[in-house]
Amino acid sequence: MSVIEAGSEQHKRFFCQQFIDTHQVFDPDSLPWPELSETDLAKLRAVPFWQEVYHTERRAGAIVDAFTPQIADPIVREAVALQGLEEARHAKLIQVMIDRYGLDAHPQPLEKFPEDLETAFIDFGFGECLDAFLGFGAFKTARQSRFLPEAMFEIFDVLMFEETRHIVFFINYMAWRERQKGLGSTRRQLKTLRFYSRAAKRLFGMAKRGQDANDGKDFAVTQTNLFLEGFSFRGFVEDCYRENARRMEAFNPSLMQPRLLPGIADLALRGLKVWDTARPFLRRQSR
Ligand SMILES: [Fe+2]
Ligand SMILES: [Fe+2]
Repeated sequence: MSVIEAGSEQHKRFFCQQFIDTHQVFDPDSLPWPELSETDLAKLRAVPFWQEVYHTERRAGAIVDAFTPQIADPIVREAVALQGLEEARHAKLIQVMIDRYGLDAHPQPLEKFPEDLETAFIDFGFGECLDAFLGFGAFKTARQSRFLPEAMFEIFDVLMFEETRHIVFFINYMAWRERQKGLGSTRRQLKTLRFYSRAAKRLFGMAKRGQDANDGKDFAVTQTNLFLEGFSFRGFVEDCYRENARRMEAFNPSLMQPRLLPGIADLALRGLKVWDTARPFLRRQSR
């Protein structure tokens, strides 16, 4: 296959059609939800972020739905409409889980969106890229430690796969959109950094709110230890990086993929390796 020029008409048709063709049809109610033991139920209920996850998915669906009618291009609009449908289905999936396992989370009023819905959509898209990348590592750690039965992870995997679809779509959408706006590569990169730092700020705010709400008690002390035992920052970054690469293999290689966060992770890991090699030598020097 010939190389597709990023941002071209051909690129646009290709990434939208890919997204549309790979949409899966399922009903969250009829997923194979497992029966959980009392111990597993207690662990699931003690996870402190179901409220946040539920709200985030409902908000995601609402932002994408609000933005969809403003998109002039029919095939882009069709693809984004499908993303809205998938986000709404994520909220439904979380809702089914809340009801089925008696989790403490409920719908909260959605904040008013800004007038500029495209910027809201872009903010949301970069947020998804960041959440997904960190989520890949966290998911791997939790799954490997068998925090919950594998059947639960298989269900969450459906959600993870769709989030990965969304970030791949978003990266391609941004490349196409910026080309339409005639932005050069330096301005594009600066803009990407600005949006990522906004996404990171929001994520820290969310983590802080979660901590405050939970007051650091039950989950932090007991449950987290179950899968954070032996936690290492480097191991986590490695998991994020490797899982990102593994999950990206499911996509057509002609699609553009998120590069910035894996690039930063790769750089950090290389830096740590150099540090490891240099450390004994530096110690000897300082004696
Ligand atoms: Fe989602
Ligand atoms: Fe998403």
